[in-house]
Parts: sequence; C-alpha cells; structure tokens
Amino acid sequence: MKPLRIALTKGRLENDTVKLFEKMGFNCEALLNKGRKLILTIPDANLEVVLAKAADVITYVEHGACDLGVVGKDTIMEQGHSFFEMLDLGFGRCRFSLAAPKDADFYAGYNVKTIATKYPNVARAFFETKSMDVDIVKIEGSVELAPLIGLADAIVDIVETGTTLKENGLSVIEDIAPISARVIVNTASLKLRKTEIETLLAQMSNQLN
Ligand code: PRP
Repeated sequence: MKPLRIALTKGRLENDTVKLFEKMGFNCEALLNKGRKLILTIPDANLEVVLAKAADVITYVEHGACDLGVVGKDTIMEQGHSFFEMLDLGFGRCRFSLAAPKDADFYAGYNVKTIATKYPNVARAFFETKSMDVDIVKIEGSVELAPLIGLADAIVDIVETGTTLKENGLSVIEDIAPISARVIVNTASLKLRKTEIETLLAQMSNQLN
C-alpha cells in the first residue's frame, strides 16, 4: 500500500516528533541520519516523512502533496484553515503576546497605535476583537527592536521564556493565545485513508498520554 506522507516542521518540532515516533516503536534511523535528504521513510510504519519550513508544511497539506503535517499553532493562526486540525501534541509550547516598553501606558491616549509583528493576521484579528483601530507593520525578524527604535508602540510576537522581552526592556501587556505543535490532515486524505490516519493519530495520542 502507498505510504502515508507526513510533513514535519524542520527543527525543534521535527526533533520532538521523531522522539514521539521512537516512543511509539517506529524505526527512525533514516530521520536520525538524514544528511541532506528531504524525503525519508519509516518502513515499519509505512510512513514517508518530508521536512519543510512551517509555512510550507501547511501548503503541502492544503494541496494534498502530504496527507498530514506537524506545525505550530502560530503558523496555523497566521496562515490558513483549509485542512483539519486533529491533535495537540503538547510540545513546542509558547504563546502569542502583545508587548510594549515596560513603562509605557499602551492604551493611553486616542492616537492610532502602531504594532510591529511577523504575524499581521493574528495581530489584526486580536485588535478586531477589541474594536481597536491600529496600524500594523510587518517585520521579518527581531520584532522586539521595533519599539526600541521608534517604529512601533508595541509588538505582537511569540513569547517562550520571556528572556528576549526582558533583555530589551519590554513587558507583556496581554497574552493573545497559547501555542503548541498540532497535527493537521488534508481534507481528502481524511476521507480516503480514514482508518490509516485515525490509527496513526490514536497511536500518537496514546503515547502522549
Ligand atoms: C522567537 C520570538 C522571540 C523569541 C522569544 O524568535 O520571535 O524573538 O523567540 O523567545 P523567549 O521568550 O524565550 O525569549 P525565534 O528565536 O524563533 O527567532 P526568529 O526571530 O527568527 O523567529
């Protein structure tokens, strides 16, 4: 039978998923000694594993190039919803927060505030829930810099330990949403290969418990 294909987000989520697969008894040799190979097989589980950047994991699953994917809730919230989100893996935990310079009163005054973020859709949705008009500036990295150099009043970003905020004189104003790794499934695959997919998800879920 054709293997199920799963896309893993390269890096920490990949490593945590491989650990989970090992606990499930899968032979992950190909994944542990992958070199530069991008498609790897777990023969005993009839699985084909693809390694990709988070945004691409979603693209592969939405287009059906992969049946399943492991990706952070941050990318899911920012990027799209044309798939089923089936399982919270519990690892890769962090959160989306609104943060600003420690002593600033972010909500004071009536001027439209500027928000810097790598996640404009998440930021927009958050301020819509508050019916608050803001200008959003998309930044590609080191978002914490934006308030320090006068580009923004506040940031919407991922906070894990809080160290980056602290070391740059910023603090959390509000938490927006918790983040962790999720398993997503292509909508057609879930119909056509229901039993195989449900069996794999049940095995993963049992091992998490
Ligand atoms: C994320 C995020 C923060 C940092 C928060 O960046 O954008 O900068 O982690 O972590 P902390 O609360 O533990 O300090 P990441 O390291 O993923 O790099 P990036 O800016 O390239 O996305």
